Amino acid sequence: MKVYNIAVIKGDGIGPEIIDEAIKVLDAVAVNADFELKYDEYLMGGNAYDITGDPLPQETIDGCERADAILFGAIGGEQWDKLPRDKRPESGLLKLRAALGLYANYRPVKVYDELIEASTLKPEVVQGVDLLVMRELTGGIYFGKPREKGEDRAYNTMIYTKEEIVRIAKEAFESAMKRRKKVCSIDKANVLEVSQLWRDTVEEVAKDYPEVALTHMYVDNAAMQLVRDPKQFDVMLTGNIFGDILSDEASMISGSIGLLPSASVGGKVGLYEPIHGSAPDITGQGIANPLATISSASMMLRFALGEVEAADKIDTAIEKVLKEGYRTKDIAAFGASEVCSTTEMGSIIADIVCSHR
Ligand code: IPM
Ligand code: MG
Repeated sequence: MKVYNIAVIKGDGIGPEIIDEAIKVLDAVAVNADFELKYDEYLMGGNAYDITGDPLPQETIDGCERADAILFGAIGGEQWDKLPRDKRPESGLLKLRAALGLYANYRPVKVYDELIEASTLKPEVVQGVDLLVMRELTGGIYFGKPREKGEDRAYNTMIYTKEEIVRIAKEAFESAMKRRKKVCSIDKANVLEVSQLWRDTVEEVAKDYPEVALTHMYVDNAAMQLVRDPKQFDVMLTGNIFGDILSDEASMISGSIGLLPSASVGGKVGLYEPIHGSAPDITGQGIANPLATISSASMMLRFALGEVEAADKIDTAIEKVLKEGYRTKDIAAFGASEVCSTTEMGSIIADIVCSHR
């Protein structure tokens, strides 16, 4: 029996609620499989700060490094917003990404036919959208130095080395080869030097992938094109901050930010998390949508552990519950035959994956 060690970071807000459901589903899918999952919990974010004084205790980094994969919920909340920057929950996540070398962030956006009405865009615009935002995650303006906040002047530095661009570009082209063979690289090369290097470097990498059609788009135009005609995109290759912004925008194409998973990879251990945040406004009410986290758990099985069959089972179960009209509150207005709580949704999917129905 294979045993996989999963580092679990529940985090703040709805984090614990949605992670519990993902674990319920993982345990269910493992019942009839030839592997076992072991979990070790670690602290990160606001709760970690409250308990240890540090949003990313060393123990968490060490535990993550030892694991086969990391499953993460969400972090953040108003009560920690006034802390010095390096104590804030977000700093914990950024430091973990850097410490583990997670430079490639996969943010797939898929539209479920059953939820087409949930999108604020017209059904014909969103039906069939299937795109991947490939976001660089450990460089750019998020990490660039120098950076400083003065009284009357503050600055950050957007910096990319050629090496950093090459490795994320390769990731995008490799992904495109398994998809529809299109890469659209996003930059602001008409204004920024760093974007010019980005564009030139992506062009160079493209030479190794003659089957992939490469286009370039300025980020402002990309923001517009995403709502005008999202189906034109296959893989969108972006730097750190452009990907942060565009992936939030792209998530709304699917109707709910509560549906989309993500994977951060590139180092020895990958981190899997929903793309939404900790939603303090609905914490503890049992109404959070666990589907994005359950879907992230499926990505973890597929990419980190190679358990493709188990991942397929979870994906099929998610489609099935949506077809059958089970909805958490966030998407209840769209085709619900039954509105369910966070835990009910987890249980229904767990039931399906271990074939009780
Ligand atoms: C994300 C989030 C993070 C980011 C925050 C929480 C630091 O918005 O994962 O998209 O900006 O990368
Ligand atoms: Mg973001």
